[in-house]
Amino acid sequence: MRILIIGSGGREHALTWALARSTHAAELYIAPGNPGTSLLGINVDIAVGDIDTLLRFAQEHQIDLTVVGPEQPLVDGIVDAFQAEGLAIVGPTAAAAQLEGSKAFSKAFMAKHGIPTAAYATFGRDQHDEAMAYIAEQGAPIVVKASGLAAGKGAVVCTAVDDAQATASGMLRGDAFGAAGEHIVVEAFMEGEEASLFALCDGTDYVLLAPAQDHKRVGEGDTGLNTGGMGAYAPAPVMTPGLIDEACRTIVEPTLAGMRAEGSPYTGILYVGLMITSEGPKVVEYNCRFGDPETQVVLPLLKDDLIDLFFKLTQGQLRDVTLTPTEGAAACVVLASGGYPAAYEKGKTITGDVDSVSDEVMVFQAGTKQHNGHLVTAGGRVLAVSAIGGDIPAALDRAYGRLGEISFGDAYYRRDIGWRAIERLNTADR
Ligand code: GLY
Repeated sequence: MRILIIGSGGREHALTWALARSTHAAELYIAPGNPGTSLLGINVDIAVGDIDTLLRFAQEHQIDLTVVGPEQPLVDGIVDAFQAEGLAIVGPTAAAAQLEGSKAFSKAFMAKHGIPTAAYATFGRDQHDEAMAYIAEQGAPIVVKASGLAAGKGAVVCTAVDDAQATASGMLRGDAFGAAGEHIVVEAFMEGEEASLFALCDGTDYVLLAPAQDHKRVGEGDTGLNTGGMGAYAPAPVMTPGLIDEACRTIVEPTLAGMRAEGSPYTGILYVGLMITSEGPKVVEYNCRFGDPETQVVLPLLKDDLIDLFFKLTQGQLRDVTLTPTEGAAACVVLASGGYPAAYEKGKTITGDVDSVSDEVMVFQAGTKQHNGHLVTAGGRVLAVSAIGGDIPAALDRAYGRLGEISFGDAYYRRDIGWRAIERLNTADR
């Protein structure tokens, strides 16, 4: 069996690692991959956006299953292109990927199908004055979002009206986020704790993976600039069994039913970014892919065979699947280049044992490359150390222990990953 994984980050390394653990003997190809994925399969030098070449590669190499990591090729129609040629691929069609690709679409969808989310209004480029008036009327705090894909940076929480108006103006004028800001969504600020829910969906049925939480801010105490994610853990204690049931009933199931009713059944990974408010879970955003770095904690906890699950997903057969309950917890800590998410240097030699993995500790590479026989830094988030343990503190101890053995010039990591979970667990103990 041959599997193609598309992407090059820590998420794709974790996906490749989980697929490599399958009982099926599979040849893994990763396009374009990274030095970590090359330890598990064959990296193929094709960019994630080059759908035609990826399709040709899949046909020529008789790929049985393709798994797409990032959102852009999904929004651009890679699933439609592969399915048109009869190839199995994990992900939503371009129409269904609008749940992530267009916040204007997803908010209108949620309003139509009664899915809990923040109150909002959408504005286009010719509605600048209306947007300013709406923001003034609503007051702050308020959230301004570019409707299109903006590499995770398109949602701005504004604490003052003039700030929100300036942000909205910048987006609508195209100064910030270009075409992604052709439409903006202005929505009420939601108070609460965030969590990430991942469902494997076959259009009708779904299975839910362990709920996770990530740390988006660069600084300890969740301060400073937004990043792609500095660490994560699962299962997130904030997601009690009752809240998980409620989120499935009020969000995941109506989303699948709604997409079917819209004529775009949702297949692939549905990542629901939740806010746990005093009124229950509400949708912050949908993503049409796995999270990064949440994948690095969710997949190590998965006991079932990921290849089997992905085939069942593409064949519409998730109805009869019950996942084996997870045990313990997983945590991951991202080791980043100093300065990230602002300017940082690349090309620092990475020392320490990056390659060996066990069932308990894994190093997932992201911004790395081989240079003159050395592994060097090549991005902001360089790698993540993931570990599993009996509980979140035990998993964190293991992850930090291994992280301490890896270094490079100007390396930076947060020392407080999991603080919310630990606080919650300590409170529950009292
Ligand atoms: N961890 C956030 C994301 O993947 O979008």
